[in-house]
Amino acid sequence: LPYLLAALGVGYLLGSIPFGLLITRMAGLGDVRNIGSGNIGATNVLRTGHKGLAALTLVLDALKGTVAVLLARIYGLDYALVAGFGAFLGHLFPVWLGFKGGKGVATYLGVLTALAWQGAVVFAVAWLAVAFITRYSSLAALVAAVSVPVALYLLGLVQPAQLFVVLSLLVFLKHRTNIIRLVQGRETRIGAKG
Ligand code: G3P
Repeated sequence: LPYLLAALGVGYLLGSIPFGLLITRMAGLGDVRNIGSGNIGATNVLRTGHKGLAALTLVLDALKGTVAVLLARIYGLDYALVAGFGAFLGHLFPVWLGFKGGKGVATYLGVLTALAWQGAVVFAVAWLAVAFITRYSSLAALVAAVSVPVALYLLGLVQPAQLFVVLSLLVFLKHRTNIIRLVQGRETRIGAKG
């Protein structure tokens, strides 16, 4: 158990690095939490108008989840699952930002890539299809978050499926205000300024 807690803790620390905030600050763009949706994720970094910085935020927020899982994977699947969970929680609830973190989509994908690459393919297809058709990043994430646990169960990857049921529920919780805006037809589309 102490080792599982260590995996959770290391995962959390990695996940709690707020790359979107750091990258935009280092680029001299101020605090990304003051623009658009106020989120620290790639979608909101894109609202600064800097595509490269948004892409970098996406990659680094995903990679911290991937790295956490791969480090713990050496000790076994249980450790990998726990470290991935920790990284996701770190992104959503970083102690450094008063526990007000991101919505978890990139880190979800990063953890998924390392745990079950088939799930990451399902995520990518669902996300890209919905984003291409609707231009809503949030709706794309929500559809992907429903698709992934279902696909993992169908593939017989039960343990990852169970983890991603929990992660998807948290993704939905973190998208509460996005869901309200989507229902009201007021959600900002990709490419539009917040
Ligand atoms: O990845 C987060 C995305 O689904 C929504 O971001 O900034 O539009 O709330 P945002």
